[in-house]
Order: sequence, then structure tokens, then C-alpha cells
Amino acid sequence: MAHQEKKRLKIGVLISGSGSNLQAIIDACESGLIDGEVVFVGSDVPDVKGLARAKKHHIPTFAVNYKEFMRAARSFDPAEKVLTESDSDFMKKSLHIVPRSITSDEDKIAWLYRRMAFEMILLEHMEQFDFDLLVLAGFMRNLTAFFIDQINTDPAKPLIMNIHPALLPSFPGTNGYEDTFNYGCKVGGSTVHFVDYGEDTGPIIGQITVPILPGDTLDNFKEKGLKQEWILYPQCIQLFAEGSLKVVTADNGRKKVQIG
Ligand code: GRF
Repeated sequence: MAHQEKKRLKIGVLISGSGSNLQAIIDACESGLIDGEVVFVGSDVPDVKGLARAKKHHIPTFAVNYKEFMRAARSFDPAEKVLTESDSDFMKKSLHIVPRSITSDEDKIAWLYRRMAFEMILLEHMEQFDFDLLVLAGFMRNLTAFFIDQINTDPAKPLIMNIHPALLPSFPGTNGYEDTFNYGCKVGGSTVHFVDYGEDTGPIIGQITVPILPGDTLDNFKEKGLKQEWILYPQCIQLFAEGSLKVVTADNGRKKVQIG
């Protein structure tokens, strides 16, 4: 009987910077630890090290300069735009990602429209590639409900993963290691989770701990933490590739990941 080749997972990656997690994922694909391949790497910051890492492995890349886009889009005034029902639904689900400095409702809506326009460009780039899983590896933008719904077409099967540098649900937000360290925790670590509409609130796939020992500094805690991330993320992606992750609803109504 002819040997049937197993389908390898096609992984799309979004980054904003150094891409050391991306490197760990590429290496894991190349060594067979992940039964898959990285099919594109996109960035919201041009010329970051992560893009160079991808190019070195002949992986297609693209960049959409977020800061430049948002600056240029400031003149775009959606105030007169009539909100459709689905627009206002996505706005409500995404309000928490609007910067706190923006206080009026009109300005919040305008900002979200600009953000959505930025995400549309990202999606246009991504559409060129066939991918099974989208991996956020140090991608420093919260995604709107609009973007998430474009990828997660089946709500029971989330397809976006993120790594967060803290043991969620403690210390969500942008400074996981700092917040853990400055709180005086004796153990920190990182969490891989599926992305939902909230900030770092999605179902947890895996966690890895890092002790904070007397004499540790924030810098060496971060360094130890990052090294563990490089182990954790490929493991979680491989679980996805094997079809071992199932999202179920717990007794308390929360969605959680069942492994196996
Ligand atoms: C990691 O600490 C990750 O947990 C966080 O951003 C950092 C990205 O590092 N989301 P790198 O770009 O993978 O080196």
C-alpha cells in the first residue's frame, strides 16, 4: 500500500521585533520537533531582526508599518460614516484596546476604524498564503474582534496562538516579566494561549515556570524566561499540529483547552 504522507502544519507568524521565538519555531520545524513549516512572517515594524531571521530561512516576509499607517490615517474622519450593525458589534468587543488617552466616543470609534483599516492591509498580505495556524511571536498589537473573526471562522476552533511572558491570568498586558518581578513573585514564567477578544484572556494551552531567586535581576529573570519560551512555544504548536488541543467549556462557563 502506498505510504500516505501526513499533512504538515502550515504556520503563519506575526512579529514586531527580535523574533527569538520565531527562530525557535523555525528551528523546531527544521529539526522535526514541529511537524510543520513557517509559510510567512509578517511584521508591523519594518526592518526588525525577526524579518532578517525569516529571510535567512527563505521564508516569505512582509511588513506593514503600523506607526506610519496610523499617523497617515489621522486625517481619515469616519465620524460621518454610518455604523453598520456588525461594525458596532466589533467596536464594542474591541473597545478595551483603544489607548486610555482617547476619551471621547467619537475619537474611540475613529481610532478603531483606523486600526481596522491597518488590519485589513495585514490580512491582504496574509491572504496570499495558505496557513492552518497564526502564531503571534512578540507581535505587540492587540487584535480587534474584526481581525480575529476573519481568522477564526469556526468559534469552536481557535486558530490564533500567542505567547505571553507571565503566568496568566496574572499580569496580562505588555510588561509581563517586569510586572511579575516588581510584584515580588518568587516564580514567574510564560503562557501560550489561544487568542480571544480580551487582552491575554484566551484559553491556556501551556505554561512554563521560572524561579525568581535571591540575587536575580529583572534582566537575568527575563533572559531565563525567554529561554523557556523557546521550549514552550514549539511544544504547544506541535500539540496543535497533532490535533491534540480541544476547546471545551468548563463548569464555570469558561472556555478551556483540553489536551489529548
Ligand atoms: C517575548 O517575551 C514574548 O513573550 C512577548 O514578547 C517577547 C518577544 O520576544 N510577547 P522575541 O521577539 O520572540 O525575541
